[in-house]
Amino acid sequence: MDVAGKIPRLVPVEIRPGVVVCGDAAGVAREAAARFVQLSRQFVTNEGFFSVALAGGKTPRELYRVLASDEFWPQADWGKVHLFWGDERAVPPDHPDSNYGMVCRELLARVPIPPENIHRMEAERPDAEQAAGEYEAVLRRYLQTDSQGFPRFHLILLGMGADGHTASLFAGSPALAEMSRWVSAQFVEKLGSRRMTLTLPVLNAADNVIFLVTGAEKAETLERVIEGTSQPRLPAQRVQPAGQRLFLVDTAAAGAVLNKKTP
Ligand code: 6PG
Repeated sequence: MDVAGKIPRLVPVEIRPGVVVCGDAAGVAREAAARFVQLSRQFVTNEGFFSVALAGGKTPRELYRVLASDEFWPQADWGKVHLFWGDERAVPPDHPDSNYGMVCRELLARVPIPPENIHRMEAERPDAEQAAGEYEAVLRRYLQTDSQGFPRFHLILLGMGADGHTASLFAGSPALAEMSRWVSAQFVEKLGSRRMTLTLPVLNAADNVIFLVTGAEKAETLERVIEGTSQPRLPAQRVQPAGQRLFLVDTAAAGAVLNKKTP
């Protein structure tokens, strides 16, 4: 049976405005895939194309697999979908840590998307700042800008670390403080390596941001991000897009929010 067929059809429940619990991680992937294809239809109809910045890490892998499943891939007009990356590690595409490489394996190898619609971050280049500037030029070529002059993605998919980072925006990092450039390629002290990432103003210019958060290890941080109780604010908390912000979470990650009395 196709992977989508194995996913339990648990009914998602909105536990706070913009926070939807989807059962387990498979349920999160399925709900995210449904919203991806729904948004792709909406933007292809209204604007002729659908621009998405993809999340890296482990959580979205299941989403990409489900999107590539027989149930979902035919629902998107892949010739009009343009894929970008929210962040990338300083490794070549064939490295096991590459976000691009993961998407290639789980999605791009199985859907009819034209190669010219795939816009990889060349984060492995030694001239990282130059590569960041060139990625900014790619965004400029394909995306309209908002009233502040930042590129407007139709959808940005994001994960969240247990420390509250998102994309490669880590608390206290120069990249998080970057308020004018669209793409940053800086050394991340916490990781001991360089990352290329979209900056916070770009995340906040999006029409839609969907966070995918699963696992009990993220429950306490998710509660702080959702309730806005962290000072200074965690990077994920600072993602307050002009458009819609949605958290798709599993029951484990929602544990602390569910145990809290509603305000
Ligand atoms: C990356 C991601 C990063 C990720 C979080 C959560 O390149 O790793 O952009 O922000 O979303 O670290 O990672 P997991 O999904 O693996 O928990």
